[in-house]
Amino acid sequence: MPKYSALMLAGDGIGPEVMREVKKVIAWFSQNTKVQIEIDEDLVGGASYDKHGTPLHDHTLEKAKNTDFILLGAVGAPKYDELPFEIKPERGLLKLRKELDLFANLRPAQCFDALADYSSLKKEFIAGLDIMIVRELTSGVYFGEPRGITVDEEGNRIGINTQRYTTHEIRRVARAAFELAKKRNNNVCSMEKANVMESGVLWREEVQHVHDEEYPEVQLSHMYADAGAMQLVRAPKQFDVIVTDNLFGDILSDAAAMLTGSLGMLPSASLGSPSKKGIPKALYEPVHGSAPDITGQGKANPSACILSFAMALKYSLDCTTEAAMLETAVQKTLAKGIRTPDLFQGQGKKPVSTSIMGDAIINELNILAC
Ligand code: IPM
Ligand code: MG
Repeated sequence: MPKYSALMLAGDGIGPEVMREVKKVIAWFSQNTKVQIEIDEDLVGGASYDKHGTPLHDHTLEKAKNTDFILLGAVGAPKYDELPFEIKPERGLLKLRKELDLFANLRPAQCFDALADYSSLKKEFIAGLDIMIVRELTSGVYFGEPRGITVDEEGNRIGINTQRYTTHEIRRVARAAFELAKKRNNNVCSMEKANVMESGVLWREEVQHVHDEEYPEVQLSHMYADAGAMQLVRAPKQFDVIVTDNLFGDILSDAAAMLTGSLGMLPSASLGSPSKKGIPKALYEPVHGSAPDITGQGKANPSACILSFAMALKYSLDCTTEAAMLETAVQKTLAKGIRTPDLFQGQGKKPVSTSIMGDAIINELNILAC
């Protein structure tokens, strides 16, 4: 098996804490399996701003373009709130997504049995839940022009953002969703607001077109995004793959994430088109963000970041067995009641720290490898 390169961008807040545990996991795989990964580390977000005055330095972007995959921790912290838009920590992440053309953002919302009690919904609604949200990530209102804040003749300030999608952008993310559905339960639900937005009408038509031309065997339905949000909390198990635009995907994926009990459990993959090597450009990151309220306290749950690495094993390295092994190790750790404070409910035991949680997952890997 070839040696792969990974660029690790731990970023801000709890990013470096959870990434430390991923490093241990990668070292374990290097020692015990055929998976060989060479890690380079660099700065992104506020950490990069503090050193270089920009949330993503050109040399980091260059490295990102040339690595096999990127692992990112989190970006952002309250101390950067007053910075101008162009240099906010979040811009570093958005620039990476855009420059690498990582158009398909995969956000699984899976409920592990051991955590079914942590959801805000009743257990029967979420036990066994397994949804994949495919969010378009490089277009839509996040990037559309014109944008900005202007002033009209009467002195009213006007905030402008533009929702804009092309046929090409919609079709390629739709294909990503249909391909995933074929390996799952063969069911795609596309969400937009075709009742009020022209871009939504185009979205619906183009997704339907890709379906009819290329994936007639996959079941396709359409929902308005507001109704989709309602259905997500009413009966989430009706969904298999959801495909939606950048902004609706941002919102719906946070809602879906919380169905599973904790944001601290959820990984994501952002994929582009396949490179010369045949593997897609890819960035893997936990969904949870920088969590300034618990930064530096050893309370962060490293599972989401570790599970993001499992997605890298699956989608970048094509090591599905190893990915499944890592997922099982996380599940077994939780099932034993070893948990960080986000997933802890008394029961006479104490919650464990980020690093003990990482060690426990590695311990399970050792058991599974025997
Ligand atoms: C996400 C985040 C980002 C987004 C922020 C940090 C720019 O909320 O990945 O969901 O809005 O896309
Ligand atoms: Mg978000």
